[in-house]
Amino acid sequence: MIKMNFHVMTLFPGLIDNAMGESITGRAIKAGHISVNAVNIRDFAGNRSGSVDDYPYGGGAGMVMKAEPVYMCYKHICGQIQERNQGTAEGGKLPVRVVYLTPQGRTFCQKLAEEYAGEEDIIFLCGHYEGIDERVIEEIVTDYVSIGDYVLTGGELPALVMMDAISRLVPGVLNNCISAQTESFSGSLLEYPQYTRPEHWRDRSVPPVLLSGNHRKLAEWYREQSVIRTALMRPDLLENAELTQEERKLADSINNKKN
Ligand code: ADE
Repeated sequence: MIKMNFHVMTLFPGLIDNAMGESITGRAIKAGHISVNAVNIRDFAGNRSGSVDDYPYGGGAGMVMKAEPVYMCYKHICGQIQERNQGTAEGGKLPVRVVYLTPQGRTFCQKLAEEYAGEEDIIFLCGHYEGIDERVIEEIVTDYVSIGDYVLTGGELPALVMMDAISRLVPGVLNNCISAQTESFSGSLLEYPQYTRPEHWRDRSVPPVLLSGNHRKLAEWYREQSVIRTALMRPDLLENAELTQEERKLADSINNKKN
């Protein structure tokens, strides 16, 4: 069985464990498809007060996370991975990627999620305060990733966003393996609309084709709805979409109507 092992260096391990322990990711942990190892950087403070931050050289507002606790936390996780891999035939995939969550990084997207889903271990580094001493970042980080052009108070929520998106691509995590592929962004088109009972709700009815039981017609309708939806909501995605001539005409007619 393929298993994805997430490791998170954080000052708030409870945030990671609580969020990942719920819903689909929680079930995936129990079933052994993924594991989440949230390690508290404060445990590596090396002093009795447990302080992990200090004033920035050169002055300025806020505090900076010290290099050594982060480094010791990283070494601890490397030791755990090494220990687990001892005695296994393949010995694990090395080197393990270390993702630093930062607004300065490359923007996360579905393609990147698919790339990470091929790893056996991923280590996330969550910063807090005004940042982390640059020297330890240079020493251990392999990837810089942002989840969007806005600034959050720490890297935990971005790490959770990434782990959620990656987890659902790990084989076995979703009930049916088709749904991970057919949903929004796979193939650069958005997902078609969904309906459930009752057939009539207030003054709205379910599109009759969905009740027809005709599989060919259904597939055509799904595809057409995906094209329409993408043209309406995210026309930028159409550039990379593989469309037939007819679908391209449909998308263009919707865009022309909008403009
Ligand atoms: N840390 C703070 N803001 C962030 C963002 N937008 N993406 C990733 N990490 C962050």
